Amino acid sequence: MSRENIKFAYWVPNVSGGLVVSKIEQRTSWDIDYNRKLAQIAEKAGFDYALSQIRFTAGYGAEYQHESVAISHALLAATEKLRVIAAILPGPWHPAVLAKQIATIDHLTGGRVAVNIVSGWFRGEFHGIGEPWLEHDERYRRSQEFIEVIKGIWTQDNFSYRGDFYRFHDYTLKPKPLQQPHPEIFQGGSSRAARDMAARVSDWYFTNGNSVDGIKAQVDDIRAKAAANGHEVKIGVNAFIIARDTEEEARAVLQEIIDKADSEAVNAFGDAVKQAGKASPEGEGNWAKSTFEDLVQYNDGFKTNLIGTPRQIAERIVALKAVGVDLVLGGFLHFQEEVAYFGEKVLPLVRELEAKAQTASGEREEATEALA
Ligand SMILES: Cc1cc2nc3c(=O)[nH]c(=O)nc-3n(C[C@H](O)[C@H](O)[C@H](O)COP(=O)(O)O)c2cc1C
Repeated sequence: MSRENIKFAYWVPNVSGGLVVSKIEQRTSWDIDYNRKLAQIAEKAGFDYALSQIRFTAGYGAEYQHESVAISHALLAATEKLRVIAAILPGPWHPAVLAKQIATIDHLTGGRVAVNIVSGWFRGEFHGIGEPWLEHDERYRRSQEFIEVIKGIWTQDNFSYRGDFYRFHDYTLKPKPLQQPHPEIFQGGSSRAARDMAARVSDWYFTNGNSVDGIKAQVDDIRAKAAANGHEVKIGVNAFIIARDTEEEARAVLQEIIDKADSEAVNAFGDAVKQAGKASPEGEGNWAKSTFEDLVQYNDGFKTNLIGTPRQIAERIVALKAVGVDLVLGGFLHFQEEVAYFGEKVLPLVRELEAKAQTASGEREEATEALA
């Protein structure tokens, strides 16, 4: 098990409607004041990162959407330690614009910005803004070029590149970002193309919620491929977290979310993503196997099962760490209240269990050395 503490991120609710497609009451808002205060609460609670979302138009509800780079900067300005990850869609963004924007934000915020390169699942969105919709693996080929290019711009002078999607000639960005070698690069998606790209170029691989076994299969695949490429990649997993004093309360909240699901919006989302999932040739992409209930949390966050008492959740988080997970990305029903509760009740237990596991493995190592 990694000696480093597992890290925590939360989803920035920068689109309306919260993180579940349900008519249940959600004391969560997408507006900037709510989000600034949430970032401050999360920082105090011990969260390491906040992840924004990029959406150009409504889908599964999400009628209003604040833009991801702008809101990430606002949240960085409102905090001191929190790292904020801006979601980016190659296509709408040109890599030169992004590299420049992020270099400036990195200087403005003392080196705390990161990016999440997402490859897109929503054909209607691309049509809406007049962007060509590439087939699944082509989207990933473009994303890989995008990442190679932003890394090149951030780290080299006189950068040149000849790809199928992007070309650069002797280009020098000044100033370079503050973070060395460059701001962290996350990516989101679970298909074979996503895993292959992570194993080649990304610093972090973010995947949808899943069981421990489902996550382990992805981690093993990525780590083996990354090792063959001489590359290292860390793993982040999505989870919709429902922590309550008793397991019954937590399960009742999950049931209410599902009972009050906005079926029309969930089914429309299901149609859009199934089409996106089928487009992944091996059929292993996000949502390829999602049921109606899974889709009520639009990144399969119930599957990770961080639903129960603080102790149950802490134990499951440590089990995820044991199969190679480096970060848990949490969504919550009532963000401000639940992020604070998580920091107070769950996080200390995670640290306690991590320390115990560390001591146990140290003792095992000493015993093995004594035997040798
Ligand atoms: C943690 C995470 C965050 C994501 N954020 C966004 C986002 O903000 N905007 C977006 O259009 N897609 C987002 N996606 C979707 C992915 O970019 C991708 O389109 C989707 O997962 C399908 O890819 P796959 O077939 O490789 O699984 C996200 C995915 C994950 C796992």
